[in-house]
Amino acid sequence: MALEQRPVGKLDRAVIFLGPPGSGKGTQAKVLAAKCCVPHLSTGDMLREHVANGSTLGLKAKPIMERGELVPDSLVLKMVAERIERPDCSHGFVFDGFPRTVTQAKYLGELLKRQGFKQPFVIHMVIGNALLIRRLTGRRTCKVGGEIYNIYDRPPKVEGICDNDGGELIQRPDDREEVIRQRLHAYEKQTSPLVSYYRRLGFLHEIDASKSVAEVEQEIIQAVSGIRGAR
Ligand code: AP5
Repeated sequence: MALEQRPVGKLDRAVIFLGPPGSGKGTQAKVLAAKCCVPHLSTGDMLREHVANGSTLGLKAKPIMERGELVPDSLVLKMVAERIERPDCSHGFVFDGFPRTVTQAKYLGELLKRQGFKQPFVIHMVIGNALLIRRLTGRRTCKVGGEIYNIYDRPPKVEGICDNDGGELIQRPDDREEVIRQRLHAYEKQTSPLVSYYRRLGFLHEIDASKSVAEVEQEIIQAVSGIRGAR
């Protein structure tokens, strides 16, 4: 059986996708979570849901996200802690866009230890800035199922319509070029220190995220298959 068709099996830990905006975290995290039968936890999606529902958290997060800045740790940490306590997370989960600061990473480390999980496996999506702008300005997302497309590299069969469920494809408000630049700046300043933080702990696994979606997926599956049974 081809590697990409084999089930990866259950996880017993958190897999963390770490990388700049547009590196493909969402695209790959969804696939890996489905293959491992564990939840895909995107803090960006959770926050956008709060914004859409007009919750207290959503009202606080909306202007911050529109500027392309990070939502304060205090708000994000509470939201994540509540989510991973749910029963569907008992065999592990795939984080996409969390942690994003050293404070978030330290808090997560404590939380995972308390809940008896093994050490997390961190996938670092390595990619140069030049490709990111094209990927982000070309991104379109299904309003119904969340499937991610790209008008340049991964277009739907019919323009503006999701292949899977016929949902409308929309552009994220923070995918305008001036906001993208601020998001890249926030990544460099606040999130990139996590690369050396997790490298020092020995949890980091680097993936070349500039390759095609299928090639990146294959590299990730190979890497994650290797951790089962590990510490
Ligand atoms: P979030 O939603 O997490 O956005 P992000 O980190 O900026 O990442 P993106 O979703 O933009 O990119 P991605 O890496 O998932 O790429 P994708 O797979 O979609 O966060 C949004 C905001 O929420 C933040 O700015 C912040 O305000 C707030 N926030 C979220 N989490 C937070 C936290 N923990 N703390 C504080 N604030 C937080 O792919 C992009 C495009 O490229 C798509 O079109 C896709 O089709 C295409 N593509 C993907 N892979 C490939 C490939 N290999 N080849 C060609 N095209 C590809």
